[in-house]
Amino acid sequence: MPSASSASDRSAAAIPGSGSTGPGVLRRYREHLPITDATPMLYIGEGATPLVRSQRLEKEAGCEALYFKLESCNPTGSFKDRGMVMAVAKAIEEGDRAIMCASTGNTSASAAAFAAHCGLQVYVLVPKGRIAQGKLAQAVAHGARVIAIDGNFDAALRLALTITDIHPIALVNSVNPYRIEGQKTAAFEIVDALGDAPDYLFIPVGNAGNITSYWRGFTEYQRLGKAQKRPRVMGFQAAGAAPIVLGHPVEEPQTIATAIRIGNPASWQGAVNARDESGGDIQAVSDDEIMSAYYRLAREEGIFCEPASAACVAGLLKVTREGLSLAGQTVVCVITGSGLKDPETAMKAKADLIELPADLAAIEKALGFA
Ligand code: F0G
Repeated sequence: MPSASSASDRSAAAIPGSGSTGPGVLRRYREHLPITDATPMLYIGEGATPLVRSQRLEKEAGCEALYFKLESCNPTGSFKDRGMVMAVAKAIEEGDRAIMCASTGNTSASAAAFAAHCGLQVYVLVPKGRIAQGKLAQAVAHGARVIAIDGNFDAALRLALTITDIHPIALVNSVNPYRIEGQKTAAFEIVDALGDAPDYLFIPVGNAGNITSYWRGFTEYQRLGKAQKRPRVMGFQAAGAAPIVLGHPVEEPQTIATAIRIGNPASWQGAVNARDESGGDIQAVSDDEIMSAYYRLAREEGIFCEPASAACVAGLLKVTREGLSLAGQTVVCVITGSGLKDPETAMKAKADLIELPADLAAIEKALGFA
């Protein structure tokens, strides 16, 4: 664990991120972000994620072009790195020595990685037993102080808000406005890659920070003339954790997609604005629909994402099945996190795992070659 004094001892040459190669979202989008001469230009490999064309689901959805924005390719395996780099840079600029977040897993993994890079102390509050193993492993490996509470994400966030109010610790959940600012760069990248905004954006919704960020990004690019239009924003919550769809908080949210197991989203209003201003919608998808999309992405597209990410693809398949025509439309689905974070869920597929002796004839027989 780095000592608390190590950050202040750094010489200018040792500013975190300096000397790294690659642009990073802070450098690439500096003019659109709240960056001053005193903001450290942190970079651990975030941003510039691929936009991959669908091979099979595009046809089924009936759109002109379907792309997956692979936010799972960020350094800690989720979109959180875009917002975290901005939030941590501002925390350092403002003299903070410690950061804290509540998390369903990905935020804590990202916060822990940036804290390690910058020599900050990091505390995370997670719902006990409700976070994917890979995410917990990341926070532990990066040296975070992890507290698993007997309660859900919403309770953890309330506690994190109180603790960071009383103690000199920066809160790096998406209630921190710098998180939203950093995350909007994903919308910029989509427009920069496609030459304009897509017609539709499909995105999973949990605490609702990301949908808020994308809408801000598309809106700013249109205002600057870098995009001619803004997409309709289609957000998807898990049916057991769908407060925005229901119009009221959910006391005990339930879903296999633990990343979006949230009953009272902090950026609720931002999500509603994105929906209403864009002429989009926010709907619910069942756990079965989520898992079906999860395996289809893995098996028909070569994309291994986590269940929460698959929620938006489940939503795309659902709304088109129910009659929404996407003919002639360009669609982007945001693949928010990597499937490697949650191998236990993947293995529930009663894997085609056959155990045999190391024997050619036996293997040929099992594979149907003999
Ligand atoms: N997808 C993944 C993989 C996530 O980890 C999250 C949120 C979301 C979607 C939803 O994004 O909250 O901005 O609406 N994860 C947070 C966390 C809550 O703690 O890692 P959102």
